[in-house]
Amino acid sequence: MNDLNTKIKKLAQLILDANNIVALTGAGVGTESGIADFRSPGTGLWEKVNPDEFASIHSYVSDTKKNLDFMLEMGMNIFKAKPNKGHKALTKLQKLGKLTGILTQNIDGLHQKAHSKNVVELHGTAYETICMGCDKVYPITIMIDQVMSGKNVPSCDICNGLLKPNAIFFGEPLRSEVLNQADKMVEACELLIVLGSSLLVYPVAFYPRKALSVGAKLAIINIQETDMDSKAEVVIHEKIGDVLPLIVNIVKNDIEEKY
Ligand SMILES: NC(=O)c1ccc[n+]([C@@H]2O[C@H](COP(=O)([O-])OP(=O)(O)OC[C@H]3O[C@@H](n4cnc5c(N)ncnc54)[C@H](O)[C@@H]3O)[C@@H](O)[C@H]2O)c1
Ligand SMILES: [Zn+2]
Repeated sequence: MNDLNTKIKKLAQLILDANNIVALTGAGVGTESGIADFRSPGTGLWEKVNPDEFASIHSYVSDTKKNLDFMLEMGMNIFKAKPNKGHKALTKLQKLGKLTGILTQNIDGLHQKAHSKNVVELHGTAYETICMGCDKVYPITIMIDQVMSGKNVPSCDICNGLLKPNAIFFGEPLRSEVLNQADKMVEACELLIVLGSSLLVYPVAFYPRKALSVGAKLAIINIQETDMDSKAEVVIHEKIGDVLPLIVNIVKNDIEEKY
């Protein structure tokens, strides 16, 4: 049996042995749906644009038009994207009773489109816009319609404040209610499976350590190495869509054999 098969079986067994499993997903889950991540060599967005000039709250406020052009391009790609084999495999795992919830750094809504439940969007969503003046949340179409009709600085109908996509930009804190929910899930889990994240963005990068500190096991599926690889029970450096469906099938067959 080759090394990869051994790892696939090992992760399937970890899943079978655990009662409370949480998935922590990053932009690597979206790449197979055609959405670029930030840090993959050659294709990551940060090889094309400078993160200090785009996607920081400071740059958005100081040059809204330039940032919006970049974000709308990314947004259009997100809106037309469909869930891939990885998203679907997670939903299948959940239907088997083997996934409590998903903590995602992604803003693309693809876990929900794949019908996964209990999805916590740590970094917000591309499908909404929020007023920086009064915090009112609108569907993103409100902002897009304004920009498409030539308004360079989209604004709130109620207070005229600046509208921004309801995603967390660099320089912005994460929402406390979302962090509390994520903390509770990580503290209660027996197995944390990291999928498609470089684990370089905080506070999310703390979650694997937090999980280990409460006695949970850690598994990682990511093409590139991460700083947490040495702490994980199993690390698979392959594409999620190539391996996760195989793992979920082993779990499914094992569960069905028992009934
Ligand atoms: N889809 C989205 O919503 C989206 C897209 C780009 C960026 N983001 C934001 O970018 C931030 C970046 O942090 P991050 O850790 O999520 O992403 P990242 O770009 O830092 O890391 C992505 C990781 O996924 C791996 N990867 C890429 N494709 C993969 C695949 N098919 N299978 C397995 N691994 C794969 C890469 O090797 C890389 O290490 C997040 O805060 C997120 O909000 C989101
Ligand atoms: Zn407002």
